[in-house]
Amino acid sequence: MADDVAAVHALAMRLAREAGAIQRERYETSLEIGTKSRPIDLVTEVDRACEAHIVATLRRERPGDDILAEEGGAHEDAGAAWRWVIDPLDGTVNFAHGYPCFCVSIGIEHRGVRTVGVVYDPLRDELFEAVRGGGARRDGRPIAVSQEARFGRALVSTGFAYDVHDAERDNLAQFARVTKRAGGVRRDGSAGLDLCYVACGRFEAYWELKLHAWDVAAGILIIEEAGGRVTDFAGGPPPASGSEIASSNGLVHDELLRVLAGN
Ligand code: IPD
Ligand code: CA
Ligand code: CA
Repeated sequence: MADDVAAVHALAMRLAREAGAIQRERYETSLEIGTKSRPIDLVTEVDRACEAHIVATLRRERPGDDILAEEGGAHEDAGAAWRWVIDPLDGTVNFAHGYPCFCVSIGIEHRGVRTVGVVYDPLRDELFEAVRGGGARRDGRPIAVSQEARFGRALVSTGFAYDVHDAERDNLAQFARVTKRAGGVRRDGSAGLDLCYVACGRFEAYWELKLHAWDVAAGILIIEEAGGRVTDFAGGPPPASGSEIASSNGLVHDELLRVLAGN
């Protein structure tokens, strides 16, 4: 098993770097851009190229593994021990606008348990990764969550789903409440990087609604291995679907949940 984890970890890091290289090459070039669920839900040819590269490599090198990938490249082999959950380009709106904040996110489960997480930011050349029980690192060096315990000094991040124009559950009341109480609030447009920034202490906390499995599969493990806490809004285990994610350094977590709840 240890050999297998090491092989999966090494392959995930290689694939994240390779997909990141595609993003770096195509950044600020003219792109074919389409839409998905809504006119503001974009997809570019680079999302597809990154996913195609990752999925084709996995099919060749690990043909027995399950794959869940955002742009549709899923492969489900009933009974597979390993499942790769892939966001080939997290931060597509940023990428399409030339805003330098996006990443590749790859989370891998072993028999349903989050076991390896890798997030790569190609512009900063920063690689965040964790293996269950083995801590979290940035560029090979151990990282830890921040020690700030005061919510009033916390830098907190969030995001909004693509249905924000018409949905009732739009995160705006929570955004207003946190803004009134936290040290600062950011909305940078890449859930994968938001989670890693909690893990390495840049943010004290990050929450979001209506994410998807591929947004959080890597980041949840990286935060937990860096000593932080990730839950749903009631303080229970974080849903693998990403439907409700509250994450923090642990120290400001209870207050984050209270403020989100309106208390
Ligand atoms: C999106 C980003 C964004 C978050 C959205 C996600 P995508 O992912 O992570 O920060 O606010 O909810 O859908 O579409 O760029 O992969
Ligand atoms: Ca995403
Ligand atoms: Ca994506």
